[in-house]
Amino acid sequence: MALHDQTRKTASGDSGKAASGESGEIASRLLAWYDAHHRDLPWRVAPRELARGIRPDPYRVWLSEVMLQQTTVEAVKSYFRAFVEKWPDIEALAASPTEDVMKAWAGLGYYSRARNLKACADLVARQGGRFPVTQAGLRELPGIGAYTAAAIAAIAFDRPAAVVDGNVERVVSRLFSIVTPLSEAKSDIRTYVERMVPATRPGDFAQAMMDLGATICTPRRPRCMLCPLREDCSAIISGDAERFPVRLPKGEKPLRRGAAFVAVRGDGAILLRKRGDKGLLGGMTEVPTTGWTARIDGAT
Ligand code: ADE
Repeated sequence: MALHDQTRKTASGDSGKAASGESGEIASRLLAWYDAHHRDLPWRVAPRELARGIRPDPYRVWLSEVMLQQTTVEAVKSYFRAFVEKWPDIEALAASPTEDVMKAWAGLGYYSRARNLKACADLVARQGGRFPVTQAGLRELPGIGAYTAAAIAAIAFDRPAAVVDGNVERVVSRLFSIVTPLSEAKSDIRTYVERMVPATRPGDFAQAMMDLGATICTPRRPRCMLCPLREDCSAIISGDAERFPVRLPKGEKPLRRGAAFVAVRGDGAILLRKRGDKGLLGGMTEVPTTGWTARIDGAT
């Protein structure tokens, strides 16, 4: 669905705009809020530091974004600190054996990320230690998809990239009261964000959207009274922010069964194997298992 059709699918009326103001004003209000209320995160260069001329280190931005791909901010903090202490730059990470990196990653989950992290470090270090500055260039690197490329381009290089994750989708769905189910509204949401990204401070704008989604515009019981965009937000005005984003009812998931075999040797050793690198729990250690099937006779 093209964005202009969105006008028929917003609950707030027919404009397809937020309740008040233009995109530039929304960005200014959000940035002013971020200046005062941003989270202090170990990988972040705060607005006051940026104003003093301190630049983000692309290595730290990349490392944090890969860690944050499937893990919460709280869980990532200590891993991030440990990694940058052990490997302060990309050359140090590239010089270390994969085994050590995997060990340091243990507990963060989704281990293909750690393998890609090391492959990416090796490649960037071989190419002179500098990350590409464009989204397209970043996407060529192992473990960097569309979201991570946009986040690194915006945060590390202050490029006007639209950084859209689940938090941002929620903020935008509410801002514009998008009644189209989220699964069908994603490209329109991206277009809204592209229009909102300011020419100055796009990196702070991306992080401000993340912070707003994480601390104010939360999935349940959003703190709308504290929201810097409360006068812009069509969902607040209609009094039901929690209604957004609209989701289609979940389909039934098949129940799959399998068997795991635990073989214990006389001396107590347990038979383990390493899973394939790709897919569910890629590269992790397990006891031997059958495949998983939804069929009652166990056939796959
Ligand atoms: N989630 C993904 N990237 C993030 C970042 N840079 N800061 C906070 N949360 C995030």
